[in-house]
Amino acid sequence: MLKRVPVREITLGMYVHAIDGPWLAQPFWRSRFLLTSLDEIAMLRRSKVGAVVIDLDRCVGSARPAHSGNARRARVQSDIVRREADSIAAKRVTDDARDFMKSVFDSAESGGRLETGPLDGVVRSITDALERNRSMLLGMMRLKSRDTYTYFHSVAVGTLMVNFARELGLAADEVRLMGLGGLFHDIGKIRIAKEVLNKPGPLTPEEWDEMRQHPEIGHALLLADDVPSIALDVCLHHHEKVDGSGYPFGLVGDDISLAARMGAICDVYDSLTSERAYKGAASPVAAIAAMASWSGHFDQALLFVFMKSICVFPIGMPVRLRSGHLAMVRDNGRRTSRARLTVFYDIADQRLLPPYELFLSDIDTSETILDTPDPLDYGLANWADVKQQLLEGHDPSIGKEARPKSK
Ligand SMILES: [Fe+2]
Ligand SMILES: [Fe+2]
Repeated sequence: MLKRVPVREITLGMYVHAIDGPWLAQPFWRSRFLLTSLDEIAMLRRSKVGAVVIDLDRCVGSARPAHSGNARRARVQSDIVRREADSIAAKRVTDDARDFMKSVFDSAESGGRLETGPLDGVVRSITDALERNRSMLLGMMRLKSRDTYTYFHSVAVGTLMVNFARELGLAADEVRLMGLGGLFHDIGKIRIAKEVLNKPGPLTPEEWDEMRQHPEIGHALLLADDVPSIALDVCLHHHEKVDGSGYPFGLVGDDISLAARMGAICDVYDSLTSERAYKGAASPVAAIAAMASWSGHFDQALLFVFMKSICVFPIGMPVRLRSGHLAMVRDNGRRTSRARLTVFYDIADQRLLPPYELFLSDIDTSETILDTPDPLDYGLANWADVKQQLLEGHDPSIGKEARPKSK
């Protein structure tokens, strides 16, 4: 159960679930932790934090409350409070980060220095909020108003980069730099005419020429301000494509760095799922399906890891599960974070199964998707047929066996 406690009343053994106050003012790297030292208490009391949300179930020693009342009702109420606390925290992170990026863009526009130090705080709060409730934060990132689009797009790409880097298992420092890269990737747009940037219709060839300069303009701005090289790289190369048809240099394949290939994916995904003056917002599934179909644009292996990081896959895609089964992706239902799968094949037994449904929730890792296999490798020469039957809700295992793979 969660309870809000003023900072002056905190004691050793209390488990802090959330910090209530401006996130830049809070003195800790993480906002969920057990209070184990008087130094931590003193730090909190010295900060601008007014109160903390305590998780009573995780408190220890004398800070742990005596058991009382209806436990089930208390748990339901606690879940509601937890979701509300997560929602408030995610909203605060998105609002503060957007306002902060606006000040960074405004300062760069008027010739001021680009300080990366305070932006570490933005990346830190994003990382923390992703840990708290990933789907809630990613959902909020898709809500952008027209006048704050540029700043919020930067925050959204920074957030997607952090989430992506964590899925790839990169070290904490690299995760941080990827986040910075996302935040800065479009800084060059401050030198693009507003009429071109916000034009509600298609751009003329001359306007495109101007727009295509923003990676190099941004790179030059960042170079002058001692920004880490990964952020420079994402800024300069996030519009390159693996087949060499991107800009500004037409780099091919691995000549484009990992950070820039990641940046390209996060940038396009956020653009597609955002509403703009000239287009509606695509759903996450539609955006991912479109991106997977653009051959030569993205690093396909990386795109698959990105899908895993946001738990969104194109409908009909075959996937191999850790449990030793093949499944096919259905829709994500009402909650975009819950991919719905139909499990249909046992790999060890080499046979079709009566299909059953599986929701791949964010937190359940027991059925992790490992990769996207070629059904032919599993003897499913009739994959198009099997897929069609599964999509229509039929059972392809009745009277039809997949031919065992020849050894
Ligand atoms: Fe861009
Ligand atoms: Fe962008």
